[in-house]
Amino acid sequence: MDKAEGKPAAKTGAGLEGVVAAESSIGDVDGVNGVLIYQGLDIHDLAEHSTFEETVFLLWHGRLPGRAELDGLRAELAANQQLPAEVSELMRRFPAGAEPMDALRTAVSALAFYDAGSRDLSREGALRTATKLTARLPVVVATFERLRNGKEPVEPRPDLNIASNFLHMLSGEEPSERVARIFDVCLILHADHELNASTFTSRVIAGTLADMYGAVTGAIAALSGPLHGGANTNVMKMLLEIGEPERAEAWLREALASKKKVMGFGHRVYKTEDPRSVWLRKFSRELGEARGETRWIEILERLRELMFAEKKLYPNVDYYSGSAYYLMGIPLDLFTPIFAVSRISGWTGHILEQYANNRLIRPRAEYVGPRGVPYVPIEER
Ligand code: CMC
Repeated sequence: MDKAEGKPAAKTGAGLEGVVAAESSIGDVDGVNGVLIYQGLDIHDLAEHSTFEETVFLLWHGRLPGRAELDGLRAELAANQQLPAEVSELMRRFPAGAEPMDALRTAVSALAFYDAGSRDLSREGALRTATKLTARLPVVVATFERLRNGKEPVEPRPDLNIASNFLHMLSGEEPSERVARIFDVCLILHADHELNASTFTSRVIAGTLADMYGAVTGAIAALSGPLHGGANTNVMKMLLEIGEPERAEAWLREALASKKKVMGFGHRVYKTEDPRSVWLRKFSRELGEARGETRWIEILERLRELMFAEKKLYPNVDYYSGSAYYLMGIPLDLFTPIFAVSRISGWTGHILEQYANNRLIRPRAEYVGPRGVPYVPIEER
């Protein structure tokens, strides 16, 4: 169609498939070769050697930090963990039966009231907000978990990293070194994934020059859906429903026959194995073996073989993460909020990038409705 006529220049596939909608140096997904990079660094190298805090710095600044810079970021994060008293009070009034993603979305939105710098979109101002959000999201999730169970929130500890602190705030106990490291790597693996639905949402909101709290609130809503971050919880529900490895095949055949989407499989971009699932599979097996509970990984592996044979589909990031979190004793409905606790780093990285080089994101729709419809007065309809 002709742009001069004010009509869309090109029609895209449903769901914007294949559309390049922004330039970004934050992360890249090579879906053919199964490669994921953050600011040029391979996810496998980061999972092997890095920490979540170091990854946060990388996503925001485009390079790994020096020792003093990393210490500085850690100190900033620790100094910003405390929730404003008003938000803690507000959270006490959330219904205990609320979805944790709804609680997170509402609390993050409310955090803006108590941040006088929320509308400072300069690089320094936005970095300050990004630091507050990254420090506070884990505290919000853990606070909600405690309150809904009738328990007092556990104070965040400034001496712990984000991964250990979160697990500590959930249970009141410091995790073992190994579990803390596994969780830290899970946070690294979920930190960014290019223009996924929630990140795109955050950039669209930031592109109007709305504040970062608004952009992150919208991103949380987008992440909550079962086709995006909500899949990890549903994978674990599926495993619990299947129960035993011997039942996996019959369950899957029935699901495919009734044209059900099997959670944790398929991806818009990856046409091969998602590199993150390699790590999560390893963790799921390791934690299962450590707890003498290997049936989840056995079911997962059986389903994986069958799905490949039947549909040529590979597992995505949500396939193994749920069972790993479950084996850490984390409630199912916190899996998606944990995704947000990590992805806040990528969202804020993208929002910083959007603010730095902004143009309003405003695509066109191809109008497929009627034209020239006469207005009929209500008495004559
Ligand atoms: N189970 C069964 N069939 C599937 C699945 C699945 N999980 N995923 C894709 N297919 C089939 C689909 O039915 C379609 O077949 P056909 O061409 O015969 O109609 C074909 O594969 C293409 O699927 P699509 O739904 O058009 O692909 P999409 O790019 O629009 O959707 C997806 C990608 C991830 C939403 C989809 O694969 C899905 O719904 N998966 C299950 C939910 C899930 O695991 N989501 C997590 C995504 S990764 C992490 C994240 O983003 O948070």
